Amino acid sequence: MPIFNFRDEDALGKVASVDTTNVIVDVENIDQLKRLQVNHLAVLQSSRPGQHLIGLITQVTRKRGVEDIGNDGISEQTSELSLCKITLIGTMLDRDGDRENVFRRTLESVPEIDANCFSLDGKNLTGFMRTLSSVSADGNALTLGKYTLDEHAVAYLNGNKFFQRHAFIGGSTGSGKSWTTAKIIEQMAGLSTANAIVFDLHGEYSPLVGQGIQHFKVAGPADVEAKRTIDDGVLYLPYWLLSYEALVAMFVDRSDQNAPNQAMIMAREINQAKQKYLEDGGQKDVLKHFTVDSPVPFNLDFLMGRLNDINVEMVPGARGEKQGDFNGKLSRMISRLENKIFDRRLGFMFNGGGDVLDFSWLEKFTTAVLGSSGENGKAGIKIINFSEVPSDVLPLIVSLVARVTFSVQQWTPSELRHPIALLCDEAHLYMPQRSMAESADDISLDIFERIAKEGRKYGVSLVVISQRPSEVNKTMLSQCSNFVSMRLTNAEDQGVIKRLLPDSLGGFSDILPTLDTGEALVVGDASLLPSRIRIDEPKNKPNSGTVNFWDEWQKPVKDKRLSIAVDNWRKQNIQ
Ligand SMILES: Nc1ncnc2c1ncn2[C@@H]1O[C@H](COP(=O)(O)OP(=O)(O)O)[C@@H](O)[C@H]1O
Ligand SMILES: [Mg+2]
Repeated sequence: MPIFNFRDEDALGKVASVDTTNVIVDVENIDQLKRLQVNHLAVLQSSRPGQHLIGLITQVTRKRGVEDIGNDGISEQTSELSLCKITLIGTMLDRDGDRENVFRRTLESVPEIDANCFSLDGKNLTGFMRTLSSVSADGNALTLGKYTLDEHAVAYLNGNKFFQRHAFIGGSTGSGKSWTTAKIIEQMAGLSTANAIVFDLHGEYSPLVGQGIQHFKVAGPADVEAKRTIDDGVLYLPYWLLSYEALVAMFVDRSDQNAPNQAMIMAREINQAKQKYLEDGGQKDVLKHFTVDSPVPFNLDFLMGRLNDINVEMVPGARGEKQGDFNGKLSRMISRLENKIFDRRLGFMFNGGGDVLDFSWLEKFTTAVLGSSGENGKAGIKIINFSEVPSDVLPLIVSLVARVTFSVQQWTPSELRHPIALLCDEAHLYMPQRSMAESADDISLDIFERIAKEGRKYGVSLVVISQRPSEVNKTMLSQCSNFVSMRLTNAEDQGVIKRLLPDSLGGFSDILPTLDTGEALVVGDASLLPSRIRIDEPKNKPNSGTVNFWDEWQKPVKDKRLSIAVDNWRKQNIQ
C-alpha cells in the first residue's frame, strides 16, 4: 500500500516556478497558507507515476497587490498572492523492485508547472516518518532520538556514513553536546568489536560505565607519587613519544636568538640518545632505519648531560682554548627543560619510572589505548580523562594520542586494520583556527588536519565536538560531512554552521538559536532528511559542568576548604 493518499482538492496550491532544487508554489487556499510552517515538509506530484517529491518549506509569503481595474475605471479589487518556497530534498517511490515505499535522497524527476503540492501532515506525515525509520533501521542504524516533527518517529542515522567522513557536534554551552555524545558512545559500546577514544578534558564522562567502556586518566601528580600504572587505568605519555617538532615547540623559545641552533642541536642529540638506547638494547634491526621521530625511548639524563657539555664546551684554538661553537647558547633551553622536568604537573611525561623506558612499553600502551572491544578481554571505548594536563601543553598531549593512533593505523597492513573513531570534546582547545594558534597548537593542528584529510583511508574517524564552531579550525570543519548542531546563540558561530550547510538549506540554520536544550539540527549524508531531532537522554548521564549557584549558596559550606586548597596548591596535588 502506498503511504500517500492525496486528493487533488486537498492540494495547498500549484507549482508556479521550478529551478534545480527550489520550487515556488502558488498557494490558492488561504487557510492552508496560515497553517504552513517553515521547516515543515511538503509533497509534490511528480511527472512520473508512483513517485512523489519531498521538499522542505523554506519560505511562506503573502503579498497584497492591486489588480483588475474594472472597465468603469473605478472599481478595484485587491488580490493576494500567496507563495511558498520549497527546497526539494528527495523522492518517495511507491515501489522500488520488491520493496514498497522507499525514500531516496536523490531527485529522480522534477515537478512540472501546475503540479499539485500538498502539505505533509497528519497520517501522511506519520506514514512517511515511519518509512524513514524503517528504511534506516536495517542493521547499521545509530539512533539519536525522535524527529521533532513527529515525536513517535525514531530518527536513525546511518552509522557507516556518520563515521566515514567525520562528524561535527556543535552547540553553545549547556545545549546538550555531552549528552548527545554520551548517547552515541552508549550505542557504540553495544557493538561487539567497537573501537574509539574519547578525549574527555574535564572528566565529564566518568559516569559512563558499562560493558564496552573503560576509563583512563592521564597521570596527575598524586598518581605519579602513588606509582599508579596503566593497570590502574593511569596513562603516562613519555617525552620520547613526542615528535621532534613537538619537543622543539616545548623546549625551544622561538623568540630566542639562538633558537635555530638549539633546535639543530636538539635534533642531533636526540638522535644520538636514541641510537645509544638501541645499541645498548641490542636492537640491530631498528638501528638501521630509525629517525629522530621514531618511537624509540631515550634516556633523558643522557641527553641533559650532553646538552650541558655542549653548553660549556671549550675547543682548541690558535691561542690556547676557546669557547666551542655553542658555548653558552643552550643555557635558556636547558633551563626550560629543567623546569619542565621538575614540574610536578608534567609527571606523566617525565616521571613515568623505569617502565616507560622499556622497549616493550609502546606495545603495552597501544594494546590498552587502541584495542577494540573483545580484544584481550578489554572494552573498546576508551574514555581518556585529560583534566590534570596543564592547558599550555594540552594540544601537544591530546594530539600525541591522536598521532599514535594514526601512526599505528598507517603501519597496520590493510587486511589487519580495524577502524577507530576519535571523539574530540572541547575541540576548539586543541584544534583552533591557524590565526589564533601558538606554536604548540600548530603541531596539534598538523596532526588533526592530516587525520581529517587522510584518516578515512586508514580507518580513523573524527567526531569534532565544540561550543565555539567559529574558533575551530576551518579545514577540520570543512572535512566533516555530518553536522549535529544544537542551540547556538552566538551569531558568528551560527554563521559558520550556515556556511557549512548546502546552499539550498542555508535558511534551515535560522532555527539554531531557538532550539531547545537537547534538540539538534542534523544534516549530512548519514541522515535521510535534514531534520530537527530531539535527542534521547543517555542511560548514564555525563557530569554536568553546570553549577547551580543559587542552590549552592543555600547549602552549608564544607569545613577547612580554603586551607586544604592552599595546601594542595603548594604541593601541586589534589588530596
Ligand atoms: N537530550 C537531552 N534531553 C534532556 N535534557 C538534556 C538533554 N541534553 C542535555 N540536557 C540538559 O542540559 C544540560 C547540559 O547538557 P550538556 O550535554 O552537558 O551540555 P554541553 O555539553 O553542550 O555543555 C544537562 O545537564 C541536561 O540537564
Ligand atoms: Mg560538554
